[in-house]
Amino acid sequence: MPERLALDYNHMLSPRLGEARGIDPARLDALAERFRAVHAEVRRRREAGELGFFDPPYDTAILDEVRKFGDGLGQAFETIVVLGIGGSARGAIALRDALVAPFWNELDDDARSFYPKLYILDTIDPATIGPFLDRLDLGKTLFNVVSKSGSTAETMARFLIVRDRLAREFDGDGVRRHLLFTTDPEEGALRRIARDERIATLPIPPNVAGRFSVFTPVGLLPAALVGGDVARLLEGARDMDRRCATDVLADNPAGLFATLQHLADTDKGASIQVMAACCDRLYATADWFRQLWAESLGKRTNRAGDDVFVGPTPVAARGATDAHAQLQLWLEGPFDKTVTFLAVRDLDEDVEIPAGAATDPALAYLGGRTLGELLRAGRLATARALAERGRMNMTIELPRLDAHALGQLLMMLQIATVYAAELYGVDPLDQPGVERGKQLADGLMGRPGFAAPEASPPDPRFTSR
Ligand code: PA5
Repeated sequence: MPERLALDYNHMLSPRLGEARGIDPARLDALAERFRAVHAEVRRRREAGELGFFDPPYDTAILDEVRKFGDGLGQAFETIVVLGIGGSARGAIALRDALVAPFWNELDDDARSFYPKLYILDTIDPATIGPFLDRLDLGKTLFNVVSKSGSTAETMARFLIVRDRLAREFDGDGVRRHLLFTTDPEEGALRRIARDERIATLPIPPNVAGRFSVFTPVGLLPAALVGGDVARLLEGARDMDRRCATDVLADNPAGLFATLQHLADTDKGASIQVMAACCDRLYATADWFRQLWAESLGKRTNRAGDDVFVGPTPVAARGATDAHAQLQLWLEGPFDKTVTFLAVRDLDEDVEIPAGAATDPALAYLGGRTLGELLRAGRLATARALAERGRMNMTIELPRLDAHALGQLLMMLQIATVYAAELYGVDPLDQPGVERGKQLADGLMGRPGFAAPEASPPDPRFTSR
């Protein structure tokens, strides 16, 4: 029986923080009924096919296809380059960082068990892209172009650059062999190009929004290409889905997480919500969540169309590192934050601090201990120090950092996001603000049918040069 992740939210509540700062447990009890309605509405939308992200963990056909590509292409190329942005990149980065060894691309073939190197580029900075492409051996590289819409300018521009470079070295068949698209099954420019040029593709289900696509080929393929255990990942996601089938708030971890964060924001003014990864391999997960929470909840209008201007501000942080960079602010700055620690109970690796290494007596206490112990002590101390000062914090603890536990975590955070959206009364699946930004950028780039914003040169009185 695989172990379950745990959510410890003692430090969110008034018995630990005091009445002024902590959430009264009675308030949570009172919200149990509201949560039943939230849960029912999410179930209704799921059954209506609107919340498609619930389905991929159960889709064995997709899993088989991803594994087939993973086994074939994973062996055929030395380097995989993923070109995507936003939801079409962040999930893959989270899976890669959590599931494969750190510094993967610097390991030799043996240490990578002959799996390819994997670069996931979610940037269009020419200073990054140009030199990166110049260094690549195109003959040994597969480009996985990922775009749900198949039209996002940042991804399409890089695709065109890459295809041009490939075409200068290879004939049509050769170019095709180095491309694999992950996109909508029917719509979009990328799908049309795939049809016309017979380029291999994997589908993104139309009802799965970009930032919720980590369990589709968007996340699964890159992970499978480097040997990630995607079957166990999906098993973890299914286990969490089953755990969240209950509408009893106290038993539903995603419900608790969403309700506590929503209460912290709306009742306690804690609209900044930090997720602090206590090991390096989970930082990209905190960063993935940052996008998920921000784009899904930050909305001008509610579902009835009224202006509401809601949404917490998520922040991704690194446990021990940010203890020496952000903690002072968290401890003594304004009472406008929650901190969620992402912790791992049993670390796979530990490093001992040699007992006799301290020549100065002041360092002797470290001898014979381990870096894992230091990491854990730092987290517990930070959580305690925050609580002592009335600062809300909670801990999500994974039993270990493996595919099953990661699947649980990612699924819990996705489900929590749609619960939170219900609590705020907004639609988690749209992003009208981002779409507007995309339209204006397309207009500036001269795309037919897209108007450029009117020129508004900076007023020199308010410009310092
Ligand atoms: O979550 C989202 O919907 C966005 O972040 C998209 O993933 C992002 O804009 C990229 O879109 P696309 O996959 O269509 O290229």
